[in-house]
Amino acid sequence: MNIPSVQSDILRLKREKDVCILAHSYQTRDIVEIADFTGDSYALSVQASKTANKTVIMCGVRFMAETVKILSPEKNVFLANPLAGCPMAELMSKEVVEAAKRDYPDYTVVAYINTTADLKTICDVCVTSSSAVKIVSKIENKNILFIPDCNLGDYVSKQVPEKNFKLLRGGCPIHAAVNTEEVKAAKEKHPNALLLVHPECTPLVVKYADYVGSTSGIMDFAKKSGAKEFIIGTEIAIVQHLQYACPDKRFYLLSKKLLCPNMKITSLIDVLNCLQGTGGEEIIMDRETIAKARVCIDKMIELG
Ligand code: 13P
Ligand code: SF4
Repeated sequence: MNIPSVQSDILRLKREKDVCILAHSYQTRDIVEIADFTGDSYALSVQASKTANKTVIMCGVRFMAETVKILSPEKNVFLANPLAGCPMAELMSKEVVEAAKRDYPDYTVVAYINTTADLKTICDVCVTSSSAVKIVSKIENKNILFIPDCNLGDYVSKQVPEKNFKLLRGGCPIHAAVNTEEVKAAKEKHPNALLLVHPECTPLVVKYADYVGSTSGIMDFAKKSGAKEFIIGTEIAIVQHLQYACPDKRFYLLSKKLLCPNMKITSLIDVLNCLQGTGGEEIIMDRETIAKARVCIDKMIELG
């Protein structure tokens, strides 16, 4: 495959067909280069509500494409590769959340955006890793039922100690797999490096971090920092994007487990096929799901 030639076909087709391509920052560089907008989950949601194009292609995972559809039901929204799902989002069942709501009826249900559209219909407000602390602090209710990521929930609970938190068992299998032995080994190997981690990592790992934040938060911190070396505790794409952006600095991946197969399943050819009408999957959602799921996404944008 000749990457520049596929990229120029994509750029031509997207202009001709009035398509906006959104890419999560875990996508590979060849995809980021043809995207109209790249960012973390929060930035993508906000961008999705602003874009004027009639059609949107999401290079990321299914819940991200669903979020675009919920915010812009009149648009044709495609997931570039239909196999790209987020296990954290897909493993949290509605029955479990409904049971927790019965057990804790006076709790506000805060859903990480990494949830299915169907699950969002029974939640009160969404958050992303970059907006969670701010949004939870602004919620009037003292009682917070945080789903589905108990690691992010634990991190937020420590930043907002005045609230009561109930967490359900769920999370990102990629970030949660990193352990403290890997942290110690990486710090020993790179003693001058700062450790930047995503809050989807376990509290034991987060405890060692010099900075904790979303993918965009980590990128901004590393770019602005006066330090020269960084150990990156999030998906490998961030190491690669940072190394391009800051050639005078050095970035090391905290653990080789930090490669999300779902985020890596989308290829440049998938994007081309989607634009040509021979690939991708259009997100179809009934009006009721859109209306109910939208309530908690709108609340996130209002408070975020
Ligand atoms: P952010 O984009 O909010 O940092 O989340 C990372 C992630 O795991 C997305 O699936
Ligand atoms: Fe889901 Fe984790 Fe992959 Fe993000 S990195 S898409 S949370 S499995």
